[in-house]
Amino acid sequence: MATAQETTATRTLDLRVWRQEPGSEGQLVNYSVEVPPEGMVVDALFAVQAQIDPTCAFRVSCRAGICGSCAVRVDGRERLACQTPLSLVRDRVRIEPLRHLPVLRDLVVDLDPFFAKYGAIHPEFRPRPLVAPARITAAERGLVERAINCISCGACYSACDIVGLNPSFLGPAALARAWALVADERDADADARLHEAVGENGAWRCHNLGNCAVVCPKGVAPLLAIQALRRRALWRS
Ligand code: SF4
Ligand code: FES
Repeated sequence: MATAQETTATRTLDLRVWRQEPGSEGQLVNYSVEVPPEGMVVDALFAVQAQIDPTCAFRVSCRAGICGSCAVRVDGRERLACQTPLSLVRDRVRIEPLRHLPVLRDLVVDLDPFFAKYGAIHPEFRPRPLVAPARITAAERGLVERAINCISCGACYSACDIVGLNPSFLGPAALARAWALVADERDADADARLHEAVGENGAWRCHNLGNCAVVCPKGVAPLLAIQALRRRALWRS
C-alpha cells in the first residue's frame, strides 16, 4: 500500500512554454513547476496556471482523448496534452502551439483554416437510394473504419510539411474524411467529393512523407486514405 509520503510526491518539471499576446511576436518562456509524476502534459500546463501565471492560455475539454481540443507540440511532436504522460517526457520539455494555424494566444490556435478545408470536401454523409446492397472490400472497410475515428484535433495538419509549403493543400484530415465517404457506396456525393479530393489542392499534392500517420492519436492513417483516393481516381479516369 502506498504511504502518505508516496501519494503526495511531486516531480519538478522545467517547461518552456510558448507565450504570445494577440498581435504580438511570441516567445518561449521558462517555468519550473511541481507536477504529479503520474500526470499528463495538460497537468503541467495547469500547474503553470496555478503556481506561476494564471493567464497562460491553452485549450482543454474532455481530458479523455475524445474532443481533440488539447493538441499541442511537445518537444516538437504533435500530441494530445491530456493523453501524453509526464512519465514519458524529459525533465525539461518544450510546449508549443500547432503549426500552420494562426496563434490566437499562447497555445491556442485559430482552427478556422483547418475546418475550412474540412468543409471543402463536404464532410457530411448524404445517402442515395439503393437498388442493391452496398458493397465494400475488407481492405477499404479497414481504411474507412480508421478514418471515421478522426477527432479533428489538427495534429496531422500541423505535422504536414506540405501544408506548410502550400497553404492551399487540403491536408490529411480533410482527405481522410473524403475517403471515408468516397469509399461508401451509399454516399450520393461520392463523385463530386472525389473530384474535389483529387483536384488542384488535393491528394496528388501529398509527397507521402507520412508525418500525419505518425502523429495521429487515433490511428486514422491519413496517408493510406490519400493513396486510396488516388487509386480510386485512376480507376475512374
Ligand atoms: S486524422 Fe488524426 S491527427 Fe488528423 S485531425 Fe483526425 S484525429 Fe487528429
Ligand atoms: S482535452 Fe479532449 S482530447 Fe484532450
